[in-house]
Amino acid sequence: MRILLLASAFNSLSQRLHAELRDRHHTVDVHVAGDDGELRAAVRRLRPDLVLAPMLRTAIPPDVWSEFTCLIVHPGPPGDRGPSSLDRAIQEGRTEWGVTVLQAEAEMDAGPVWAWAHCRLPERGKSDLYRNEVSDAAVSAALLAVERFASGTYAPQPQHGPGWWGTVRERPVLRQEKRRIDWAKDRTDTVLRKLRAADSQPGVLDVLCGGEWYLHGGHREPHLRGRPGELLATRAGALCRATTDGAVWIPELRRRRAPGGPATFKLPAVTALGSLLPPLPEVAAPLMPGDDVDPGWTDIAYHEAGPAGFLCFSFPGGAMSSDHCRRLLEAYRFALGRPTSVLVLGCGRDFFSNGIHLNVIEAAPDPAAESWANITAMDDLVAAVLTTTDRLVVAAVGGNAAAGGVMLARAADEVWCRAGSVLNPHYRLMGLYGSEYWTYTLPRRVGAAEAERLTGQALPVSAAAAERIGLVDRVLDCGPEEFAPSAAHLAGLFAASPVVQGRIAAKKAARRADERARPLASYREEELAVMRGQFFTPESPYHALRSAFVRKRPAPAGLLSRT
Ligand code: COA
Repeated sequence: MRILLLASAFNSLSQRLHAELRDRHHTVDVHVAGDDGELRAAVRRLRPDLVLAPMLRTAIPPDVWSEFTCLIVHPGPPGDRGPSSLDRAIQEGRTEWGVTVLQAEAEMDAGPVWAWAHCRLPERGKSDLYRNEVSDAAVSAALLAVERFASGTYAPQPQHGPGWWGTVRERPVLRQEKRRIDWAKDRTDTVLRKLRAADSQPGVLDVLCGGEWYLHGGHREPHLRGRPGELLATRAGALCRATTDGAVWIPELRRRRAPGGPATFKLPAVTALGSLLPPLPEVAAPLMPGDDVDPGWTDIAYHEAGPAGFLCFSFPGGAMSSDHCRRLLEAYRFALGRPTSVLVLGCGRDFFSNGIHLNVIEAAPDPAAESWANITAMDDLVAAVLTTTDRLVVAAVGGNAAAGGVMLARAADEVWCRAGSVLNPHYRLMGLYGSEYWTYTLPRRVGAAEAERLTGQALPVSAAAAERIGLVDRVLDCGPEEFAPSAAHLAGLFAASPVVQGRIAAKKAARRADERARPLASYREEELAVMRGQFFTPESPYHALRSAFVRKRPAPAGLLSRT
């Protein structure tokens, strides 16, 4: 079928559906909603069999939905209506939820139901759930709806009358007044629910250090205590704040936009507050906590199970600043000092990595210099992985990855990926040539022609397609919460298998031969020579594209075609 994906942004779910539908041999076009006239022109030109809207913030014009069947993906169970479904479900503490695919009609979310799927809501932030449990349910419901539509015989279920079992509940947008944290009254559970329901957007508006800030992210702190609302400590750029019965870690902040002022963007909390932050102790979590120690939230941690080591990391939005890269490299070196034969990197759910931290770069006094520092730190990390020859390294990609984040994973000997992951192995959308030794790793894995196609077309790739082309070595067909235990189980079997020592020896020999043929340093130099030009030329598209990206503005017209 010819399917038009209509979305307010080509976001993770749209990318995943795009990849999954193409994998099933549908012809898929994408239209980013905005101007109704342009939408009308697109549907009349493309004449799709079906319009599928994975994430739409605006209504489809009646003349479009009456001429073409338009299916809307709604992140709530049948009968649930309104724009803040998932936010409300999380804030109410629900543990079970659903995703419904319904037909567009005059009344929002009120059309007949084509398919729906159930999902669990573990205690995670909204965007993480959206990219994982909700995305899995949305894909299975959307694919079922597409199949039913293609059959030509399926009658969707109206939200009333015979056969209807749902409860219609119209719920308005969840505004900041209802998200507000009352630090003097709210218990940790309540605070965490509010933070998770607003993570990563819109955040919870609050007052901190005399200013108005949106709080982004929230994790329970097991030990530190203080007066409710008091700032207690910092850790890896995050702030710890006391509740009535405990404390929480808040990793990121965004300054409230001044009326008529420029758009603001999220930053690590300590960076955002800068000199406004009162002196606080930095309470680091141990990198390798003992079994009986609960260190609470941390962005980098190491543990072992027999001959397998696990260096787990998770950074908000998958963005890795110079500081993240350096700390992770330090932890990687620690892991290399341990007696293991397999070292697993990542292991978490949600984003593995999306490359250099564009927000931190944008906020730096000299963004070009910070871009350079960040890519250098990233390259140092990737180099350490590429030159590890005394053990096998596995990248365990539990969520999505993009740009340098995919190349970081590809530097490992094996890449294991969750079935629902979407990979964007390209830098083009940021106007960059890219580094992370991709010119060494990518063609060796997928071939020169495929590497050129991936980096040039700049399209998302599903985990299944990535495995087919050799970008990924193994796909784990499991839920987001099961990924880490499944990867750990596999890593244990792998580390104990008799083939490991042979593979380590072969890897050492292959690295030596590759180095003789062309030193790794020369790949890096060549990549960085191009990147240097892109960073240090003020009029290069990268600066305008980065500025638009962090402020959530559309990419300036014409810039992408020049990259
Ligand atoms: N730096 C800073 N923030 C980043 C980031 C990066 N490299 N990559 C993603 N993010 C943030 C986004 O701003 C967004 O923040 P929000 O949750 O507050 O809105 C969040 O991560 C999720 O990204 P979003 O773009 O909404 O998700 P998506 O699934 O629609 O798209 C990507 C995912 C990775 C394709 C897209 O974010 C992207 O192109 N990122 C930039 C990749 C890149 O060019 N890196 C630099 C070169 S190495």
